[in-house]
Amino acid sequence: MARHEDLRGQVAIVTGASSGVGWQSAVRLAEAGVRLCVTARRQFALEQLRAEVLQRGGECLVCEGDVTVPGDVERVVRECVAHYGGVDLLVNAAAVQSYGYFDRLPWEHITRVFDVSCFGYFRFARAVLPHFRQQGHGHLLNIQSMLASGAAPLLSAYSAAKHATLGWAKSLELELAGTGIHVSNVLVPSVSTPMFDHAPTMLRRRPVPVPPTYDVDLVARAVVRLAKRPGRTSVPAFLQGRLMLALDAVAPWVGKAVLGRLGARMQTTRTPLERPDGNLFSPVAQGVGPRGSVPPTPAWVRFTATLGLAALAGGVLGGAALGARSVARAAR
Ligand SMILES: NC(=O)c1ccc[n+]([C@@H]2O[C@H](COP(=O)([O-])OP(=O)(O)OC[C@H]3O[C@@H](n4cnc5c(N)ncnc54)[C@H](OP(=O)(O)O)[C@@H]3O)[C@@H](O)[C@H]2O)c1
Repeated sequence: MARHEDLRGQVAIVTGASSGVGWQSAVRLAEAGVRLCVTARRQFALEQLRAEVLQRGGECLVCEGDVTVPGDVERVVRECVAHYGGVDLLVNAAAVQSYGYFDRLPWEHITRVFDVSCFGYFRFARAVLPHFRQQGHGHLLNIQSMLASGAAPLLSAYSAAKHATLGWAKSLELELAGTGIHVSNVLVPSVSTPMFDHAPTMLRRRPVPVPPTYDVDLVARAVVRLAKRPGRTSVPAFLQGRLMLALDAVAPWVGKAVLGRLGARMQTTRTPLERPDGNLFSPVAQGVGPRGSVPPTPAWVRFTATLGLAALAGGVLGGAALGARSVARAAR
């Protein structure tokens, strides 16, 4: 595994940097000495991020652009290379989601979610890959989601786009083996970003993440760790991460039962909200900066839930082991 423990002087393009994971990852990378080129549609928000990075002693080039516009994507990469003389790392983070039952989601929402959250990743990767190939190194770091391996109701298009993006990233990793170009992924749990303050919803109710919700810095720190040791898929959360994946492998019916019955209710509040398009087609003023209005779940609640789920997983595994032993005994 390649190691770049010292990130000082490296150049990173961070997409979706005007809020949430992109913003906080940019700040953490800058603290590690990475020179930044940040992009999103909201120039005013990127200027605020730039001010924060400069205050911390970092370097930050602002290039606004829309990931669905090929000319914008190419211009961002061109300006980054012209300014810094190259690019070492691409952090793909720009994404949108749209809340609603699949058969009631407008078709344009489904295609737009794919255009931003999946094809936006592809476009940026295709724009940086020629530079990576020419210099013989580079790192594509994709912000994925736990929904890239699982699923949630009301987010079918988003979940499908994330599955597609993870499949693409894994394929790309194989294609690039031995080239010096690495591909990494972060399977992000629910994080308290502004996503829920500007995502469109067909449900006329304020949406919230599937609990538990984590602080965005959990992901930003995982991004820095991956920048240092690329070529992995990181699952930074335990409860809504490694434990859930393990439980899903041995007892997929548990997740299905919980999310099937309660998943829609978990993601909607009683607060009325008319936001049919949100930030899907054009940027909105709400939701600048790393954190949104939904607070992270308190650590003690996560801890208690972890114990409960671990006990359930232990029970399921114990039951499975007992079952296997009696089958083996009966076969003897
Ligand atoms: N929050 C969560 O619970 C969660 C969970 C799992 C995975 N993730 C992943 O984390 C990543 C970041 O999400 P987040 O939570 O930080 O959400 P966020 O705060 O809404 O950030 C999304 C970013 O994407 C940008 N964006 C949206 N449409 C764009 C377009 N057409 N062109 C260019 N930029 C565009 C937005 O900026 P502009 O509007 O200024 O363009 C914003 O900077 C995404 O990949 C998401 O799937 C988040």
